[in-house]
Amino acid sequence: MGRIPQEVIDRILDRLDIVEVVSGYIQLKKTGRNFKANCPFHNEKTPSFVVSPDKQIYHCFGCGAGGNVINFVMKYESMDFPEAVEVLAARSGVDLPKYKKNTGEGSSLSAGLYEINKIAALFYQNSLRGEKGKKPFEYLKKRGIDTGTLDEFRIGYAPAGWETFRKYCEAKNIPADVLRKAGLTVPGEKGRGDYDRFRNRITFPIFNERGHIVAFGGRVMDDSLPKYINSPETAIYTKGNVLYGLNFSRKSIRETGSAVIVEGYMDVIIPFQRGITNIVAASGTALTQGQISMLRKYTNTAVMVFDADKAGESASLRGLDILVENGMDIRIATLPEGEDPDSFVRKNGKESFENIVNAAKGLFDYKLDILIERSGIRDIGGIVDEMLPTISKVGSAVIQSDYLKRLAERLGIHEASLRYEMGKVRPDYSYRYASESNVDRKSRNYRSSEIHLLGLAILGRDKFFRIQDELRLDMFRDRSVRKIIRLLGDLFNGGEKDINPGKLLSRLEKDEDAKTAVVQALAKMEITQDVDKALDDCIFCIRRENREDELKELTSRLKEAQQSNNNTEMRELLTRINMIHKEKVA
Ligand code: GTP
Ligand code: MN
Repeated sequence: MGRIPQEVIDRILDRLDIVEVVSGYIQLKKTGRNFKANCPFHNEKTPSFVVSPDKQIYHCFGCGAGGNVINFVMKYESMDFPEAVEVLAARSGVDLPKYKKNTGEGSSLSAGLYEINKIAALFYQNSLRGEKGKKPFEYLKKRGIDTGTLDEFRIGYAPAGWETFRKYCEAKNIPADVLRKAGLTVPGEKGRGDYDRFRNRITFPIFNERGHIVAFGGRVMDDSLPKYINSPETAIYTKGNVLYGLNFSRKSIRETGSAVIVEGYMDVIIPFQRGITNIVAASGTALTQGQISMLRKYTNTAVMVFDADKAGESASLRGLDILVENGMDIRIATLPEGEDPDSFVRKNGKESFENIVNAAKGLFDYKLDILIERSGIRDIGGIVDEMLPTISKVGSAVIQSDYLKRLAERLGIHEASLRYEMGKVRPDYSYRYASESNVDRKSRNYRSSEIHLLGLAILGRDKFFRIQDELRLDMFRDRSVRKIIRLLGDLFNGGEKDINPGKLLSRLEKDEDAKTAVVQALAKMEITQDVDKALDDCIFCIRRENREDELKELTSRLKEAQQSNNNTEMRELLTRINMIHKEKVA
């Protein structure tokens, strides 16, 4: 995709009012200078979603979502940046120059792959309805799939021959390398031609969030192996970045405020057909960070449905921590022995499945119950080792504290000793215990004053110049903060009077970290009463932290100098240390 020129984006932002655009999607209520609503990106009962007409940004104090009008449309409509710009350009009457298609090689390749996947899906669908499709059609009917569902999910049948699809494409003059790049054919060995990857299999198109086909899964119709084959990763398909069914279920997930996560294609399709429409599948792998980020756009509440045999595996238990870490409220439901969601819904119907989902246990209880069931209370050490990392990832200190108390009660041990152990837990399992764990907490505080200062700098030219006078750029520890301060410097020193935060965000387009910093900084300003005092405090804090860092560094160098009897170096270091101490008092 060619880059959209900044001035075009600026023109669009100039002409649009974020309040007007957002009101087209959700109902906003005026409160003071701002507008409020229940956040469309997470489930809530009291509104913490704020749109600011002055700053031309939105922000949710609940889930942390935030950005300018383009970011809002991207998120709400699940569009990528160019798509959202296109929509907003049309809306604001700005002409987009024709840079869009066929500029970058990347874009035309992707476009070609989407196109060929569409052609393939249609080919397979037709073949399912053709003469050769009788057996697969019977198979699918036996598995309880209606024809309406077949069409909706675009399920098809790849014929048995080695090159049926390849020949079909050849006749349509579709280049062989496009088929190969899409993973639909496999290069033949030693001079032989390419052959079809999917042969004599039921085909399930795998859609991205927006409903474009990015890959296929193919299932055999008997017990032969492998049961499924999948497209390889391509320019438009990365395995860990797709949730099967999300394009169909995202609306319902947003409306119901929660998602049901299952394992397989059929586990999405059959429940969906029966009216469980807020359902997605991870497709046979543990959930990835990418999948969770995608889901979090719609909800932060999910129920995982596990087969009975999967439930006890410690690998799957640990896989769940990633959800907690991402602030998801996660519960786990277990199906009776031998059932998966597909078979269960077919046997027992929608309501029974819903009952199971509603009875899901919270992760804490679920995990603890399984661990105790597995080893009895005897293995206290083992249970604590498994539970503490999970608890440590819970964002809320109140909930964490409650869990610790309950864990202590269940295991019959002192809460204080659990708290002590907790202090040693590192969030990742690879280094279960760290020697020192307060390093992290410190740097987070540090960032907090930097972020606050950033908010002050964005909103006032005079504040910015004071910061520029009092703090050097290298005194900011956070990379993103440095980057934005530098950018602000360019703008203000270049004569800019006011910064439009919406535009500032658009200049940071690809840098998620920096964008988050801006949004958080502006959110801090919403709750800042005394701006001048805040500025003093932040400058003071950052200076102090820098001094402390420097002291630490000098002290450790002093130790080295002492050990090697380097007297000149020692004297020099001591002078500097004394100077810093004097500054401190001043
Ligand atoms: P059915 O047996 O048709 O009900 O399929 P299922 O979706 O219930 O499959 P299963 O529970 O066995 O596996 C869950 C998911 O794991 C599947 O939907 C696939 O995405 C994936 N999977 C299962 N078997 C294989 C395999 O042999 N190869 C690959 N690549 N993926 C598989
Ligand atoms: Mn199954």
